[in-house]
Amino acid sequence: MRTIPQKDARNRLAAFINEDRLWSRHLKMAEFGSIPKNGVNRQALSNADIAARETLISWAKPHGFGVTQDKIGNLFIRRFGKDAKASPVMTGSHMDSQPCGGRFDGIYGVLAGLEALEALEGAGIRTSRPIDVVAWTNEEGSRFDPGCMGSMVYTGVAEVADFESTKDAEGILFSDALAKTLKATSVDGERPLTEPVSAYIETHIEQGPILENTGNIIGAVNGIQGSRRFSIEITGESAHAGTTPIALRRDALQSALRCLTSLNKVMKDPDDILRYTVGKLVITPNSPNAVASSAKFSIDLRHPNENVLQEKCEQISEICNKAAPPCDAKVSQTFDKKPTTFTPEIVAAIEQIASDLGYPNTILPSGAFHDAGIMASYCPSAMIFVPCAGGISHNEAEYASASDLAAGAKVLAACLSGLAE
Ligand code: GLV
Ligand code: MN
Ligand code: MN
Repeated sequence: MRTIPQKDARNRLAAFINEDRLWSRHLKMAEFGSIPKNGVNRQALSNADIAARETLISWAKPHGFGVTQDKIGNLFIRRFGKDAKASPVMTGSHMDSQPCGGRFDGIYGVLAGLEALEALEGAGIRTSRPIDVVAWTNEEGSRFDPGCMGSMVYTGVAEVADFESTKDAEGILFSDALAKTLKATSVDGERPLTEPVSAYIETHIEQGPILENTGNIIGAVNGIQGSRRFSIEITGESAHAGTTPIALRRDALQSALRCLTSLNKVMKDPDDILRYTVGKLVITPNSPNAVASSAKFSIDLRHPNENVLQEKCEQISEICNKAAPPCDAKVSQTFDKKPTTFTPEIVAAIEQIASDLGYPNTILPSGAFHDAGIMASYCPSAMIFVPCAGGISHNEAEYASASDLAAGAKVLAACLSGLAE
């Protein structure tokens, strides 16, 4: 695999990355789903997501780039190569956000990809392979659980049918939201699933503090820790708050609290490497004078070592079934991503290109999951990180500087050009 472009091509590409354009596009995209404090709430397959998709297409079309989507709504922008039969080099990320998300998580990888395509246009470099920018459907998994649906379906790890009955908090079916999005998006045509990809690189803000604390501008990401998600549903019985003796209640919230207290003990990690999060708790009927009939909570569990992760996960069902009575507990695993190791040649190319462009850089792993983790089992893959202020992410205050975003796009453009030649 050839990974390093010619020096001349690298420098010309860097000159055609337009920092102001890239920055202003982040601000434009942040209007779709904007919330106070500079935040973004752009849920997968929402009207805001559809508007972001259409805006991306409006920036791509004037260059004659091809625009397609597949059955799960992954959106692809293609710059054609000299060899029409060659499999593409792919870059991209996601456009959906957390409910209290920022302006950079996900969208940066998509916009940096488009910027790289425009730099290739500007520099007049024709690659042999096509280069695709992808916006994966539902990476976050905050509206429809789990995340990474788009990349899992593209790579054949999952099928659209697996998510057909998945509903959001308002009871809207994933399949209905998907159909609406597919219909509303102005594409040239449909792209088949599981089409081969020759290599994949995803650019992203780090979402942690390492680059900032070490004074580096580029991170060459060598892997992603393992990640599991569970949905726990406690079923009790609604009853009158004023008349029902405690002993006769099947209180789902109290039962969930007992489960959480037991889980908290088991998930304690003296080394603070295990990431254990209960970020979602929904109770029904959620009324001050009614005993909760149901309590549904999530567990997000991550660790770089698969054995540790497995050992912790195996205990979840038993703990909940022991703590839940007199209510019933149903434990379902909704996501399982083993730790990822990225392709060493691409990681090394990112380091080399960053150094050649004069950017201080380091190798680091990712604590967050990404579609690149799914792609890594499908084709040679890696990621480029840029710093984000204070390591803050999944928060409205998320911030990355225009020049760091442009630096990442320059490294990306050179990598893509090297891989596609
Ligand atoms: C993705 O956003 C994650 O939760 O790591
Ligand atoms: Mn992301
Ligand atoms: Mn995210």
